[in-house]
Amino acid sequence: AISRVTGRQILDSRGNPTVEVDVVLSDGSLGRAAVPSGASTGSNEAVELRDGDKSRFHGKGVRKAVEAVNGPIAEALIGLEAEDQARVDETLIELDGTPNKGRLGANAILGASLATVKAAAAAHRLPLYRYVGGVSARILPVPMMNIVNGGVHADNLLDYQEFMIAPIGAPSFAEAVRMGSEVFHTLKKSLAAAGHNTNVGDEGGFAPNLGTADEALQFVVRAIEETGYEPGNDIVITLDPAASEFFRDGVYDYAGEGRKRSIDEHLEYVAGLIERYPIASIEDPMGEDDIEGWKRLTAAVGSRAQLVGDDVFCTDVNRLRDGIQGGYANSILIKVNQIGTLTETLTTVDTAHKAGYTAVMSHRSGETEDTTIADLAVATGCGQIKTGSLSRSDRTSKYNQLIRIEEELGDRAIYAGRGSLRIRS
Ligand code: PGA
Ligand code: ZN
Repeated sequence: AISRVTGRQILDSRGNPTVEVDVVLSDGSLGRAAVPSGASTGSNEAVELRDGDKSRFHGKGVRKAVEAVNGPIAEALIGLEAEDQARVDETLIELDGTPNKGRLGANAILGASLATVKAAAAAHRLPLYRYVGGVSARILPVPMMNIVNGGVHADNLLDYQEFMIAPIGAPSFAEAVRMGSEVFHTLKKSLAAAGHNTNVGDEGGFAPNLGTADEALQFVVRAIEETGYEPGNDIVITLDPAASEFFRDGVYDYAGEGRKRSIDEHLEYVAGLIERYPIASIEDPMGEDDIEGWKRLTAAVGSRAQLVGDDVFCTDVNRLRDGIQGGYANSILIKVNQIGTLTETLTTVDTAHKAGYTAVMSHRSGETEDTTIADLAVATGCGQIKTGSLSRSDRTSKYNQLIRIEEELGDRAIYAGRGSLRIRS
């Protein structure tokens, strides 16, 4: 049974405070989880509680969330069985009592939820992916590696947030990491040779001052080729424009490019990118409020590309159901802190899979050394993970954990590879 629950304030990869929770069981097993934080957040995400006290951490402190962990959350969880994750998560949801977890804070709740499952796995002496996923958990995800950063994740002009490479043709996860790393370093050289800076953005990808998505895509395609891989076959490109960030007053405002596109023009531009480049997947191609646009894009290109809903779904099973019924998107991004408990996260993944949607396990732009999502990607068998670039330990820690899992599974491990994304026919 759960015997101790302790919260503390630590720092995330952007140097902002975040919540870490320890759950200790009566047999001494420890589970520890740190909570990530987004920058381009969907408006319907569970609420991350911040203190707002300007005299500390510019208002971003999480002492209230930590107090919630150490007070009411500890009181409610102590004595419960850590194996009974559904009951633990229901208890947390009821204790908060709000639809968006804003009273205790989704950061407090998620920390307690994930620390509980990690303590239970430790008590069973099982790796987390195995404890959550059972004996059949052996699919290593294709990584979507974010090698060019823009949008709100970088101080450059790129309107689109993420330009990623996914080595679908690799024979194993470890080899996918090698391929990604090689392309990353080729790209660094070619950016430098072209006179661009090679500083990295929030997710460890380069943040050159390129003006358009086309320019960034040309650099990425060339880097894949120059490294010796075939774009579209060995490595596909995936994008996250994070379009909610620049959909304003009914138009797509490409501020970096210095022009606005109407919904029609934006749709045409996105569809054109899929034609011109080996792009297999686009996340948030449309703003979260542009459901009509989402429907039209899905009808137009949904059979050729994976269209991943991030802000539009917020890992919320009810929003996902709206998408399934309304016929928009064909995939969902899974971020544990968008919804706030493990049980709800797993329900959303399951609902997606049953409806024929793919699911992509995801980090946030603000991360920590916590690697829970690597295990959850294998546990759910979702076959895809998005966890940043090939630099910065907050990103590579997840890849490194997946390398360890693959090694542990040995010849039972299956790299998701080509079958994972919805690839163009
Ligand atoms: P965020 O970005 O964590 O800043 O929201 C990641 C994403 O949009 O997928
Ligand atoms: Zn996104």
